[in-house]
Amino acid sequence: MDTFDFASWSQACLLRVEQALSDGVGVGAPAGLGEAMRYAVLDGGKRLRPLLVLAARQAVAAGDGKASASAGFDEAALRAACAVELIHAYSLVHDDMPCMDNDVLRRGKPTVHVQFGQAQALLAGDALQALAFELLAPEGAAVPEPVQARLCRLLARAAGAQGMAGGQAIDLAHVGCGMTEDALRHMHRLKTGALLQASVLMGAHCGNAAPAALQALADYGAALGLAFQVVDDILDVTQDSATLGKTAGKDAEQGKPTYVSLLGLERAQAYASELLVQAMAALDAAALPDTRALAALAQMVVNRSH
Ligand code: IPE
Ligand code: IPE
Ligand code: MG
Ligand code: MG
Ligand code: MG
Repeated sequence: MDTFDFASWSQACLLRVEQALSDGVGVGAPAGLGEAMRYAVLDGGKRLRPLLVLAARQAVAAGDGKASASAGFDEAALRAACAVELIHAYSLVHDDMPCMDNDVLRRGKPTVHVQFGQAQALLAGDALQALAFELLAPEGAAVPEPVQARLCRLLARAAGAQGMAGGQAIDLAHVGCGMTEDALRHMHRLKTGALLQASVLMGAHCGNAAPAALQALADYGAALGLAFQVVDDILDVTQDSATLGKTAGKDAEQGKPTYVSLLGLERAQAYASELLVQAMAALDAAALPDTRALAALAQMVVNRSH
């Protein structure tokens, strides 16, 4: 197999995603709201979740000839990539509000409520969430309706009370409290891991993956999703605000339970490395023909600096 050029692969993916987001976000909204929505989504972010969707689709489509390679599945994957980024962007807008983490810096810019006020930030989050599901359910036959329904179900579960929103509730309930390692793992799996795992599964459902491959990809997504938040906890103490594009050192200042507060920096780093090994083992077990992008993304999650 040719050597894999991750930089070119991700650049090509991101071009499509950025264009689709720019074409769709805030369109037809009242001026202030539309501006806040576009500010929250465009010009920033690593776009890890869209890349996971597209990488997972590539993994399942590569060996499946024409069925998965069809234009319908291709469009579904791009829509899924954008939808999951919209849910993520909305979660950041609300996470930063004074009633949650009270942050003033995000993606190197003032947070949405600082720029547009709290009411507009709340509504921008609401509208981004709604837009995510609208994107997944287009009119017409471009994306088969059973695929639309499956994608909506996966995203709704990952974003809701048993996923991101539930994890955020646990986070807020434990400010200033200790947590057991099991409880912390559960919280991280919900607040961050669920959406990352859903990104992988949504991509995998834009194709005809066998049940065993789907299960292996779910395991990969679970390990990578947890690793992502462990590393986020680590970067909060090891990097500065300019590198992160968000305020460093906030977790300790606010008394948040994190992997660093529970295990210390070294053991948290060792745990992130262990999760990377688990993610790569799951990817091997999936036995899919082209998992190079998924492998590169797992490395990126654990070895990133922001
Ligand atoms: C930050 O996510 C919030 C968490 C879930 C920890 P990212 O680090 O993916 O943020 P962006 O999208 O690159 O800004
Ligand atoms: C947030 O976790 C996870 C979300 C669901 C947004 P954090 O509160 O640690 O994210 P950052 O560090 O502000 O990006
Ligand atoms: Mg938070
Ligand atoms: Mg936060
Ligand atoms: Mg954080």
